[in-house]
Amino acid sequence: MNKEQFFKNKNILITGGLGFIGSNLAIGLVNAGANVTLLDAMISGHGGNLYNIEPIKKDVAVNFSDIRDENSMNYLVRGKDYIFHLAGQNDHVLSLTDPFPDIDINIKGSAVLLEACKKFNKDVRLIYTGTRGEYGSTVTLPVKEDASINPKGIYELSSLTAQKLFKIYNDNHKVKSVTLRLTNIYGERAQMQHHRFGVANWFVRMAIDNQTIKVFGDGSILRDFLYVQDTVDAILKSACCESAYGEVFNIGVDKPASFLELTKIIIELTNSGNWEFAPFSPERAAQEPGDFYSDITKARKILGWEPKTDLRTGVGLTIDFYRKFKKYYW
Ligand SMILES: NC(=O)c1ccc[n+]([C@@H]2O[C@H](COP(=O)([O-])OP(=O)(O)OC[C@H]3O[C@@H](n4cnc5c(N)ncnc54)[C@H](O)[C@@H]3O)[C@@H](O)[C@H]2O)c1
Repeated sequence: MNKEQFFKNKNILITGGLGFIGSNLAIGLVNAGANVTLLDAMISGHGGNLYNIEPIKKDVAVNFSDIRDENSMNYLVRGKDYIFHLAGQNDHVLSLTDPFPDIDINIKGSAVLLEACKKFNKDVRLIYTGTRGEYGSTVTLPVKEDASINPKGIYELSSLTAQKLFKIYNDNHKVKSVTLRLTNIYGERAQMQHHRFGVANWFVRMAIDNQTIKVFGDGSILRDFLYVQDTVDAILKSACCESAYGEVFNIGVDKPASFLELTKIIIELTNSGNWEFAPFSPERAAQEPGDFYSDITKARKILGWEPKTDLRTGVGLTIDFYRKFKKYYW
């Protein structure tokens, strides 16, 4: 059965459903015939944007509430077949000066969701999107799921803690879940207001605005930038795969690019903007883990997933989207 047939008439909840990845996932699920409810607290500075669901706004239920609200969660989890947990505090820079939103939203919020499922919907399947930042600085590239785990910041630590909570509920309470460690995701429907997270998208905005992109250091640091539609495909494939539950998967690209290569592609495709080298700010330097790219053998083997969009194609699609819909994102 393909994933379009799989999700037909399934009841779905997406936390953080008005954000970047959540809204792209919602569009995929509506197109597959699912009954989709989106929950979002529209936290300022994050990616929540009503325009993100413009193509499906008549086909989804939207609930503006917070994952930390036990009453809301106890109600919303009932009757759902799958819950995709994408609500999170993901501002790495903020987490250096104020650790409490990460602790509160990413750890407590995940615990509230898990308790609600344990009490009111034990048979649901949960999909959690963690971050490659959980690994911290890497010793061997590409990075496998069993590499050492040394998160460098509170955001990354809170994501890892949430992942461990999901695993404990999976093993001890039989509330089934799968965790994906996402790499740097870029593409349409991400916030474009600030550069505190979502670096590739921010570079796209700078180029469209004919500004100078600041490339930190010598631009040689490697990352595996992954296009959002490939990410959605991985999330859906993991939900469909019964043997994925209880497991952790890297979701990235095993052909990395440097920040300088990314910048040059963006400038070439927008045909505007410039770039220059700039020193790392102290906050960025403190959190920079160095080169990273994912070993995705496990996702290939078990999920049957493979990223399909090369960087040049994905960046081109991203530029086209924001050129068209700039007024909803700037
Ligand atoms: N985008 C990436 O590159 C990336 C990489 C690794 C992991 N992730 C993780 O994936 C998830 C989704 O990321 P995204 O890029 O779509 O971010 P996003 O900011 O675009 O979306 C997150 C959404 O969650 C909502 N939210 C935040 N706190 C909430 C709360 N307490 N209650 C209800 N809603 C709340 C926000 O309003 C926002 O709409 C996050 O957990 C993030 O840490 C993202």
